[in-house]
Amino acid sequence: MVATSEFILCEIKNNVLVLTINRPDKLNALNRQTIEELHETLAEAENQNDIKAVILTGSGQKAFVAGADIAEFSNYSVSEGKQLSSSGHFKIFNFIENFSKPIIAAVNGFALGGGLELAMACHLRVVSDNAKMGLPEVSLGLIPGYGGTQRLAQLVGKGKAFEMIVTADMITAADAYKWGLANYITTQEELLNKCFEITAKIASKSPTAIKTAIKVINAGYNNSLNGFEVEIEEFGKSFGTKDFKEGVSAFLEKRKANFTGE
Ligand code: COA
Repeated sequence: MVATSEFILCEIKNNVLVLTINRPDKLNALNRQTIEELHETLAEAENQNDIKAVILTGSGQKAFVAGADIAEFSNYSVSEGKQLSSSGHFKIFNFIENFSKPIIAAVNGFALGGGLELAMACHLRVVSDNAKMGLPEVSLGLIPGYGGTQRLAQLVGKGKAFEMIVTADMITAADAYKWGLANYITTQEELLNKCFEITAKIASKSPTAIKTAIKVINAGYNNSLNGFEVEIEEFGKSFGTKDFKEGVSAFLEKRKANFTGE
């Protein structure tokens, strides 16, 4: 059972864990405790077989996440800054990217700095039409430190990534959709429904195959791995899973597959 904590609200619906970052008075800015709680909640959900996907959103009408908590790091030294970045990568951003179940960011408002980086670490992004996105760190004399310099270029291309990072401009939901940063754009009212429409498809498919697909897609963005070789290896291993036997039997018997995730 995944538990709600001070800054992370949890709800399980239709085999989907909905996580809401809940610091609306600070526009859901990521302080140390929120990062810790988010990590713990996700780590727990990873081992829970009834959870097939995760939707991550922000509390209130205004913000998904307005960034890392600026007040908290205002007096940091060089080594504390480095530690902030590296522990964030480890606990949240890489953790989410490599999570074994798809995580969808439901971007319901401002996604700035660490907020956009959080959305970009997720596997898909659905954004509401009021959302504003950007990496404004250079306005603070910083650079993005939670993967933004790398993942933004992967999603929108190097030219647009340079523009967004060096100007610190916010972009609209429509631009995010046009540039490939958002998979879908909806009204704020429809945002979660759209996410559930996607997770319903995910939940009916093989969890082992989905986990493997996440691993192999990510391998292609890891400079120390050859994505094609990882694909060959993992494709082969799929033939040894119960889900493969079930998926093929169900197809041949013209029935719906009942995957167990083994
Ligand atoms: N860290 C800490 N607190 C934050 C925050 C952040 N990243 N973003 C917003 N807040 C707080 C504000 O300090 C304010 O708190 P207060 O009411 O105690 O003063 C509260 O959230 C509401 O924000 P406010 O700035 O009053 O709202 P706004 O509608 O005028 O502006 C933004 C909204 C998003 C444009 C503005 O809050 C902003 O620029 N935030 C910082 C974005 C940023 O630089 N993120 C990258 C951080 S590395």
